[in-house]
Amino acid sequence: MAATTPTARIHRGKAGALVSLARRLRAGELVAVPTETVYGLAGDALNAVACAAIFRAKGRPAADPLIVHLHSARQLGLVCVPNAAALRLARAFWPGPLTLVLPKTAVVPSIVTAGRNSVAVRVPRHPLFRRLLRLAGTPLAAPSANPFGYISPTTAEHVRAGLGKKISHILDGGPAAIGVESTIVDLRDPRRPVLLRPGAITAAQIARVLRVPVAEPRASAEKENQRGLLAPGRLARHYSPRTPVTLHRKISAGALCAARADEAFLLQRRPRPGAASGSNVFWLDAQGRLPGVARRLFALLRRLDARGFARIHAELAPELGLGRAVNDRLRRAAAR
Ligand code: TXA
Ligand code: MG
Repeated sequence: MAATTPTARIHRGKAGALVSLARRLRAGELVAVPTETVYGLAGDALNAVACAAIFRAKGRPAADPLIVHLHSARQLGLVCVPNAAALRLARAFWPGPLTLVLPKTAVVPSIVTAGRNSVAVRVPRHPLFRRLLRLAGTPLAAPSANPFGYISPTTAEHVRAGLGKKISHILDGGPAAIGVESTIVDLRDPRRPVLLRPGAITAAQIARVLRVPVAEPRASAEKENQRGLLAPGRLARHYSPRTPVTLHRKISAGALCAARADEAFLLQRRPRPGAASGSNVFWLDAQGRLPGVARRLFALLRRLDARGFARIHAELAPELGLGRAVNDRLRRAAAR
């Protein structure tokens, strides 16, 4: 097998490194950055050339728009036209893993929004990314820092493994604290917020702040999604390992005993002592707690994918809270 020689440099978050990375961003270069959700591939959101380089590095289709990251909600007016609902959600959840879709302003290049008149924005919580945003002094467009269609990265090493030959700089901020991408809400009609992607901020939390229910995308919109038109992050096949994935409501101890050695079992929690646990049995969190499950999901999927198992049998999380985001990513991983 040909050896891969990663070329990207990994920077720790020393002040000098941050200043130089911010300078590179202002000059139109790309930097992979840590966020609390997953690592992102950042470029100056107001520079169409930098944003084109993001699409190239990821191999991302031009129809799939980018998320714009701001240092503070005070910058909202620069890139979008916020409404009262957006300001309420910003107060409640920013900095944090919530992305709002709002009408865009003219300064946002159309390549960022894939030609749409709306833009997705969020204020991230990771302290290093926040310092970089402040130093760069410009909004940063950043999709997840993975080759298009593969599992999102939750460590600097994941970024290097996927994009190391395509980019030059990675800022290491440690393993991502949340581990699944931000919740995306379409707020263009503030009376009818629509959940485009479940994440750590739940639809129920959003509904509580806005005092209106949060809608699921209409079936017609889902059909558009299938063709990659509305929110391509919702494309059925996404976040996919190469190994085929089969989903299960529950994987019993009996099923583990009867298991084939060349297939992996990805459980929500550690099996009870005495229950079979061969070298092909893995779990996301010892107690099955959802924050731990979400935090480890992508890293474990990558590890299993690298092991060459014939199949990964994955157990679904309970369909509530963060479990919805976990199951959403598992379903995409299983879609062929
Ligand atoms: O947690 C996150 O959101 C991470 C970190 C890096 O911030 N970013 C991320 O970006 O997951 P990405 O590009 O992998 O997913 C962004 C999703 C895409 O599915 C895209 O289609 C959707 O956001 N999106 C962006 N702009 C949109 C818009 N104007 N309308 C609808 N969906 C939009
Ligand atoms: Mg992505």
